[in-house]
Amino acid sequence: MRLLVLSRNASLYSTSRIVLAARSRGHDVTVADPLEFHIVVSKGRPDMFLGGQSIPPVDLVLPRIGASITNYGLAVVRQFDMMGIPVLNSAVAIARSRDKLRAMQLLTRKNIDVPRTVCARTPDSVDYALSFIGGAPAIVKLQQGTQGIGTMIAETPQAVTSLLETLWAMGQDIILQEYIAESRGRDYRAIVVGGRVIAAMRRQAKKGEFRSNLHRGGLAVGVALPKRYERAAIGAVKVMGLEVAGVDMLEGRDGPKILEINSSPGLEGIERASGVDVAGAIIAHAERAVTKRKQRRHVTTDSVLEAERRPRRVRLGGGT
Ligand SMILES: Nc1ncnc2c1ncn2[C@@H]1O[C@H](COP(=O)(O)OP(=O)(O)O)[C@@H](O)[C@H]1O
Ligand SMILES: [Mg+2]
Repeated sequence: MRLLVLSRNASLYSTSRIVLAARSRGHDVTVADPLEFHIVVSKGRPDMFLGGQSIPPVDLVLPRIGASITNYGLAVVRQFDMMGIPVLNSAVAIARSRDKLRAMQLLTRKNIDVPRTVCARTPDSVDYALSFIGGAPAIVKLQQGTQGIGTMIAETPQAVTSLLETLWAMGQDIILQEYIAESRGRDYRAIVVGGRVIAAMRRQAKKGEFRSNLHRGGLAVGVALPKRYERAAIGAVKVMGLEVAGVDMLEGRDGPKILEINSSPGLEGIERASGVDVAGAIIAHAERAVTKRKQRRHVTTDSVLEAERRPRRVRLGGGT
């Protein structure tokens, strides 16, 4: 198959692993920077160019859209969607998962547990807002943070208020969240591909840190995910409509609490910790998706909008 990987840099670990995995399975792979596409919007004929040329024929697009280019990157992915070129993951699904508040709203609608979360936009009622999440210490989070940046802990109501005021003044959207103290700096990261957990690791924050992100010095070990956590991760990814995802979960007293779902999960940490060929699994799923999509009608603008309104079940691949 002809595969197009959207990534800012072909030498990034995850990108190069995906390229290697695809080539070793006999596929033709191109890596292109999403910022280098020209999107052409015209009635009935969405089109796109790369470096002044028509985009080469591709069977499937694999987007790896970093947080710093979410808007343009998503516009490019959406354009592929609209041109009827299979994209794994779709723009709608990436957008849903990237906004932590939006993701949680959708998850709780499907009865999936998350840390209690509250949003406010005025400092007047911060104490009231805090009363919903058990008071301080509380987690203050940028709605679009990543790699642990944008996730803070505030020890007192005063600290919460000043953090909120500062972030609001900077134009940031934030959420306030219950601090799950019993997780003690530990969480699970599960990689879900085609509706199955294919690898999992437990991460432990370094000393004096509550965030377990590997970018923040967390340590990871490969684990077999407990069944409840596996079900929670698969359910969460289904709600988002993602086909490839990394799910962060805390160990709450009553079981898994979903923190976030990453649509372009880093592969380095998980491959090292678990020993699983995650890139190979992604390519194997891409192969199944292309085969299945060949029998299905193209995605139309209407169906994309419909998906935006109502989360759909993932119908591609999986379970084989
Ligand atoms: N409500 C919470 N209670 C305890 N720890 C949390 C909470 N939210 C986040 N964390 C810790 O912070 C890390 C980063 O939070 P996360 O929501 O995954 O954002 P990011 O996109 O920055 O990874 C998590 O992996 C977890 O270790
Ligand atoms: Mg995370």
